[in-house]
Amino acid sequence: KLQLIREKSEMRQWTRSMKKDGRRVALVPTMGYLHEGHLALVREAQARSDLVVVSIYVNPGQFAPGEDLSIYPRNLEGDLAKLEPMGVDAVFNPYDLYVRDRPVVDGGKTNEEGSEMLVSDEFGGGHETWVRVERLEKPLCGQSRPIFFRGVATIVTKLFNIIEPDVAVFGKKDYQQWRVLCRMVRDLDFEIEMVGEPIVRERDGLAMSSRNVRLTAEQRQQALSISRSLKEAEEAVKMGESDASVLSKQVRKTISEAGGDIDYVEIVEQESLKPANKLECPTVLAVAARFGSVRLIDNVEL
Ligand code: PAJ
Repeated sequence: KLQLIREKSEMRQWTRSMKKDGRRVALVPTMGYLHEGHLALVREAQARSDLVVVSIYVNPGQFAPGEDLSIYPRNLEGDLAKLEPMGVDAVFNPYDLYVRDRPVVDGGKTNEEGSEMLVSDEFGGGHETWVRVERLEKPLCGQSRPIFFRGVATIVTKLFNIIEPDVAVFGKKDYQQWRVLCRMVRDLDFEIEMVGEPIVRERDGLAMSSRNVRLTAEQRQQALSISRSLKEAEEAVKMGESDASVLSKQVRKTISEAGGDIDYVEIVEQESLKPANKLECPTVLAVAARFGSVRLIDNVEL
């Protein structure tokens, strides 16, 4: 039976009592509005452990003012209905109270009472300790979202400390996030096995994302240019192209012509995320582009 846990102390107790019998606990951190991409992580977590915890929390600390925190899609009931039949053991859902521009009450709790997961100094929560992965947080998404990765690294640290999982599963759709978190686990000696899973796509190629529901039908069509351009780049590499600027120029062209507003198109080394000019070592071609107000990311390992 799926346990819905909302308090930190209860969460901690749950894992500790489960681990007493020597059972292995896996964590899948999410912000909810679950899709097949998240569920693939859950299945992988189940294959690698005895018990699976899915965390669902829209973390205010990784959204800058003006980003989509208040309109980020939420559907706890729907999420639980997906996880329950899969045999997930626990959902950790801290109170979701710090939403700009809407009343703050969740589960009968108000702002002040429910502030225990808050990682933000914006709402008077008094949080002032941040985990920063100083170099890896800077390129790619870090350029347009300078506080994003400190928010992610800090909330994931809290989740690791509260849940104490043996293994944690992430998607490589958020490629830089995956690299940042692996580096954090290594640098700070978390005793947690990190697992990275491939991108799950819609049948037409669009990378699954909770934000896809905010695309209009037309934008949804235009957004296919991202996965199409990445496929083309992959083909070009197979045909022998190894010049990063040639490849990224073509990707830019395909996405701009479809109406996308490009944030970045870059080819970087997989582990260091340093720019690569030639495809001589393992690289990743990473893209962020906006269609209307919806910012999408995608990538392919080359
Ligand atoms: P969220 O965007 O909900 O994603 C949760 C996990 O699902 C991440 O590891 C993400 O990479 C993975 N994921 C999302 N779409 C995917 C897809 N199409 N294929 C494979 N994996 C996919 O990422 C976050 O939440 C947050 O930053 C979080 C880590 C929970 C910290 O708040």
